[in-house]
Amino acid sequence: MAYITTPIYYVNDRPHIGHCYTTLLGDCFARFERLRLGAGEVFFLTGTDEHADKVVTSAQAHNMTAIAWADQNAEEFKKAFMFIASSHDDFIRTTQDRHKTRVTEYVSALMRSGDIYKGEYEGWYDENQEEYVTETVAKDNEYKSSVTGRPLVRRRETCYFFRLSKYQARLQELFATQPGFVSPEARRNEVLGRLRGGLNDVPISRPVTNDPATQFGIRVPGDDAHRIYVWIDALFNYLSVVDTDDRRRFWPASVHFIAKDILWFHAVIWPCMLMALRDADRGRFGFVELPAKVYSHAYWVRDGKKMSKSLGNFVTIEVLRAYAASFGRDALRWYLLTQGPLHETDADFSHAKFVEVYNADLANGIGNCASRVGNMMEKYFGGAVPEGALSGGLASAGGKALAASVDGLVREAQASLARHHLAAALTAGIAVVRSVDQYINETAPFKLAKTIESDSGAKQKLGEILACCAEGVRIASVLLSPAMPDKIAQLWQAWNLTNGSANAGLASKGVSLADNCAFAGPHGLHRGAISKGEVLFMRADPAAAVVGV
Ligand code: MSP
Repeated sequence: MAYITTPIYYVNDRPHIGHCYTTLLGDCFARFERLRLGAGEVFFLTGTDEHADKVVTSAQAHNMTAIAWADQNAEEFKKAFMFIASSHDDFIRTTQDRHKTRVTEYVSALMRSGDIYKGEYEGWYDENQEEYVTETVAKDNEYKSSVTGRPLVRRRETCYFFRLSKYQARLQELFATQPGFVSPEARRNEVLGRLRGGLNDVPISRPVTNDPATQFGIRVPGDDAHRIYVWIDALFNYLSVVDTDDRRRFWPASVHFIAKDILWFHAVIWPCMLMALRDADRGRFGFVELPAKVYSHAYWVRDGKKMSKSLGNFVTIEVLRAYAASFGRDALRWYLLTQGPLHETDADFSHAKFVEVYNADLANGIGNCASRVGNMMEKYFGGAVPEGALSGGLASAGGKALAASVDGLVREAQASLARHHLAAALTAGIAVVRSVDQYINETAPFKLAKTIESDSGAKQKLGEILACCAEGVRIASVLLSPAMPDKIAQLWQAWNLTNGSANAGLASKGVSLADNCAFAGPHGLHRGAISKGEVLFMRADPAAAVVGV
C-alpha cells in the first residue's frame, strides 16, 4: 500500500514551475509505486489550499468573490497538472464540504480532549499588514513593520491554541526511532536544531471581524467568532480525503512531498496533531498512525535568483508549455525530474542544460537505442524475436556481462526508489540504455548482418545479439516509464509489449518489479513482434530557440 501526497497549493495566483515540480515528483513516484505494487494499492493526492487571507485579498483586487476567484485558479491548477500528465487519484479543494466537515469533526475532537483550548495570544502586530510577526522578525526590523516601517504594536487577543508543547517528548522519540521521518538529512538536522529550542503551544484560530478576509474559512466549532487558521485546515487535507470507509486503508501517508519552505508545519505540527487526534478518541481515530516520511526538496531558481513576483522571473506555465511544444511533454518531465532540486541544493532552470540533457539522455539515449534495435529486428527477422535467441544470447560472455550489468542497475534503481531518490532511479534506467549501447558496440550486429546471407551461423548469432539488446531496451523502458509515460506507451505499442512483458499492469497480477525487470526472466522478451515504430525523440539543435520563451 502506498499513499503519496503533495502540498495543496494556494489559489491566490496561477501555478508555476515550483507547484508543477512537486506534483510531478509525486506523480513519478506514484507511477513507480504502481509498477511495484499494482495500481489498486496506490493513492496519489494533490489539490488546492483555499481559505487563505491572500486568496481573499487577490480576489478583491480582481473584483471577484473569494470563492469565484478560488474556482478560477483551482481550474488553472487542474489544467496545469493535466498538462504535465499528473496521474493523481484525487484533487482536493479545501472549500469542498467533504473536507470542511472532517476538519470540524477533528477540531471538535481535539477541543473535547483539551488539546485545543481557548487562551490569550500576545505578540507584535503589524497593523497595516494585519498580521502578527514573530519576536525574531520584530527584533530584526527594530520593532517596525518590514513593509511600511511603522512601529509594531503589542497586541493581545483571544484565540484557540493547540497544545503542541505536550508532544515535544513524543516527537523527539519519533525522530529517534524513525530516522528517515524527515529527508534529506540536512532538512532533518534543521528541524532537530529548532526542536532543541523547545515547543510552545500554537494559535490555531483567527478572530472573525468585519474584514472579509477574516470571514473566509472554517469556523471553530461552537464559536462563530473564530475561524480555524488556514494551516491547520490545510494540513488536515491529507487525512480528510482518505477518511472514508473505502479509503481508510491507505492511511498512513507513505510520503508527503513538500519543499523546504513548509517543513516545520509538516515535520513538527502535523505529526503532533495526529498524535493528539489519535489520543482524543481511539475508537474513531485508532487508525491514525504517523506518516512514514516527509520529503522536503529545495527550490527551482532562475539565473541563481529566487523566483518571485517582484523580480518577475517565474518560470511560468506558459514557458513550460512552450518547452513541451518544442521537445514533447515527456522531455519536459524528464528535465524537471532529473535536473530538479530534489535534494538539498537549489536548481537553476537553464535552456542550455535542457537541450544538453535532452540530446544526451533522450535523442541519443533511449530514442536512438530503441530505434537501432527495432530497425534491425524488423529488417533481419521481420520483427519476430527468434525462438531461443534470448537464452542463446545469455549463454555468451557478452550476453552474461550485459545481463549482470542490467540486473545491477535494476537493483540500484530499486534502492534509490526506497530512498525517494527519483532522479537516481531514472538515471539508472538511462544507464541500462548505455549498457545496451556498449554491448552493441562490442558485438557489432551491423557488421554481422552483412554476412548472414552466406553464413547461417551468423544469422543465429545476430538473432541472439538483437534479442539481448531488445531485452535490455525492454527493461530500460520499464524503469523509464514513470518519467515518460507518453513515449514509453508509444514504444510498447510498436514493440507489442502492451499485453505481455514490460506491461505496467504486471504488478496487479502479483509480479514484482524485480521479476518484471529480471533479464531474460519469465517476463523477458523471449518472443515478440517488434516493429521499428516512429522515432521517439528527434535530435535537437542547441542553437534553436523555443517558440514562446
Ligand atoms: N498552501 C500551502 C501548503 C499547504 S500543505 C498542507 C503552501 N502553498 S504554496 O502555493 O505556497 O506552495 C508551496 C509549495 O509549492 C512548496 O512547498 C513547493 O512544493 C512548491 N514550490 C513553490 N515554489 C517553488 C520553487 N521555486 N521551487 C520548487 N518548489 C516550490 O505553501
